[in-house]
Amino acid sequence: MKKQKILIAGGGSTYTPGIVAMLADNIDRFPIEEIKLYDDLAERQEPIGAACEILLREKNSDIKFSYTTDPEEAFTNIDFCMAHIRVGLYAMREKDEKIPLKYGVVGQETCGPGGIAYGMRSIPGVLEILDYMEKYSPNAWMLNYSNPAAIVAEATRRLRPNSKIINICDMPIAIENIFADILGLESRKELTVRYYGLNHFGWWTSVTDKSGHDLLPQLQRFVAKDGYAFETEDFQHKHPSWKATFKKAKDIYALDPTTLPNTYLKYYLYPDYEVANSNPDFTRANEVMETREKEVFEIAHKIIDNGTAEGTSFHAGAHATFIIDLACAIAFNTKERMLLIVPNNGAIDNFDSEAMVEIPCLVGNDGPEPLSIGSIPTFQKGLMEQQVAVEKLVVEAYIEESYQKLWQAITLSKTVPSASVAKTILDDLIEANKTFWPQLK
Ligand code: NAD
Ligand code: G6P
Ligand code: MN
Repeated sequence: MKKQKILIAGGGSTYTPGIVAMLADNIDRFPIEEIKLYDDLAERQEPIGAACEILLREKNSDIKFSYTTDPEEAFTNIDFCMAHIRVGLYAMREKDEKIPLKYGVVGQETCGPGGIAYGMRSIPGVLEILDYMEKYSPNAWMLNYSNPAAIVAEATRRLRPNSKIINICDMPIAIENIFADILGLESRKELTVRYYGLNHFGWWTSVTDKSGHDLLPQLQRFVAKDGYAFETEDFQHKHPSWKATFKKAKDIYALDPTTLPNTYLKYYLYPDYEVANSNPDFTRANEVMETREKEVFEIAHKIIDNGTAEGTSFHAGAHATFIIDLACAIAFNTKERMLLIVPNNGAIDNFDSEAMVEIPCLVGNDGPEPLSIGSIPTFQKGLMEQQVAVEKLVVEAYIEESYQKLWQAITLSKTVPSASVAKTILDDLIEANKTFWPQLK
């Protein structure tokens, strides 16, 4: 098996150490020659890079390791770029969440006006790293977690249609882990699923075991009572806000008891409930800064101070496993079945063929091969048509530097009650994002 050369872009991300640790623990199935980190903010990446260096040396001294802010050094001679950048850092996520809430509208990282604002910042950031990759390693693949994945995916479909980028999300994987827990199975990999939707906007229509036994009814009985509230060990999802999210799946499920929903649908279907249960002065960004971000950097500093990673460990879960599975599938042509964000192209036959949808694909060395979904029901189709129009309008607004289209996008979001509220929020977001967004005409 050829040894792979990996670049992690967004080297200073809270998820980087987990992916590095998981890569080192998976070299039997995914052999590695080199891991590099790249970030455009040296101070942020420094402790993560220094700690990962110690950790890797102790876990596996064969892997070459370095970190840099120089794009040429980073992107030259790589097979994969695993990307998870956050343009504007948590400081801007906090504004994305708090500005809409000020006007009684959902404040969320990837959904509603906050997600739209984040999209306008992420598009140029992701295009920049994609262009570096194509310049310095034209045969490499970018596996992109950078959010909001739906808008980023639409932007790369429009602006870089031939690029080797696959946009991905770990939420369905985290939920499938819960399915496995509910069913008393060792692993979600014992399940075969059918699922369709947009990113952070989808439904499972089938869950079976490998012999084809239908497991959906058993899961539905659980969800009808408790949502996805199954005690989890997952470090991210043990926080109070995530627990509330998993519980709320019960009410999303009630709207269509023939499927199982993605948790993110709550922002579109129960926005009033979400706003009533949000604290406009303390949002998820604050919770993350006080927990995950703080913990990851504390662990990194401890490793550096001690000169060893012994006695410490970074959290690595479904998020890291999924991106490594995907790299494996491409590098070694495994044809693993995975949920990816891809151009619809007729896979959902009664839906816009130019929409980016999240559906099962078989993955091999030429990338994803989407599976056919067939027709979807009116309820889902209606919701998805509205949401995909929002995502397309954001990308058009970015390309055309159009105030009008961004106002339309925010107005059309199911989370926003009226065009006047949309305009007020937009004007605040423009002010907050003036160093990031193009100047809108
Ligand atoms: P973070 O702020 O801890 O890390 C992001 C890093 O990206 C920072 O170090 C920052 O300096 C760097 N960065 C920003 N712009 C850059 C650029 N242009 N070039 C290079 N580096 C740049 O954020 P985090 O919470 O660890 O999350 C990272 C990203 O992963 C976010 O976009 C988050 O939404 C996303 N994410 C996505 C999924 C998914 O399901 N798709 C899951 C988890 C996280
Ligand atoms: C899930 C989603 C990601 C999102 C993350 C937010 O994993 O799939 O797209 O970025 O949750 O989590 P956080 O813990 O930062 O709120
Ligand atoms: Mn996601």
